[in-house]
Amino acid sequence: MIAGNWKMNKSPAETVKLIAELKKIQTKTNAEVVVCPMTVSLFAASAQLKDSEIKLGAQNVHFEDKGAFTGEVNCASLKELGVEYVILGHSERRQYFGETDETVNKKTLKVLEQGLKPIVCVGESLEQKQIGITNEVVCLQTKAALCGVTSAQIRDVVIAYEPVWAIGTGMTATASDANQTIAAIRKAIREVFGYAADDVRILYGGSMNDKNAGELMSQPEIDGGLIGGASLIAEKFEKVINYNR
Ligand code: 13P
Repeated sequence: MIAGNWKMNKSPAETVKLIAELKKIQTKTNAEVVVCPMTVSLFAASAQLKDSEIKLGAQNVHFEDKGAFTGEVNCASLKELGVEYVILGHSERRQYFGETDETVNKKTLKVLEQGLKPIVCVGESLEQKQIGITNEVVCLQTKAALCGVTSAQIRDVVIAYEPVWAIGTGMTATASDANQTIAAIRKAIREVFGYAADDVRILYGGSMNDKNAGELMSQPEIDGGLIGGASLIAEKFEKVINYNR
């Protein structure tokens, strides 16, 4: 899977323009391509993606079905717009908007119950990396997010390993470090769900771009990428999608 997280970029009109450019890409891999625009741009994106293989994702959702939650968005409305994936627990949401392992778990369960697919983000801070607890942090985040997920649902879950220090900084984990951390995440999933863990797609995210995508994605444990900045420019996103190993 190659997913673009457009964060708080691209108005509805700009979204239509970028998707029009992305639709011209001849995909040379069998990767599933997903774009995740701002909530306010999802309606325009959905219409523009009607005759396309590109899938639509949202960047967040609320864990309740409906009600007095001013400013929030529910799963049913996302589904109505043709959204298939929802990014959950992105480090920016954990850092700036009070997202916790508990809310990520509630959202994961709701998203799966409603027939959407979560892209659950996990990742260690620079300090956690420096004191050598990366695997503990990401495995705990993963297991906490998946608490209560059934064995029938686990294959619909996507995990994105995004080291916090690598997001938007131009610094990436080395391909082998990313591979090892993702292997640890998969092992943690296997402890709970057995060999279904092998079917869970685990992506790398954090300054992935047209230059480093090939090396990262040729690692055996890395099943794709969650791309921020480089997914906002069609030529760069195209090179990530059609990466050369
Ligand atoms: P960048 O690719 O801009 O570092 O962002 C990564 C990310 O946060 C994707 O969710």
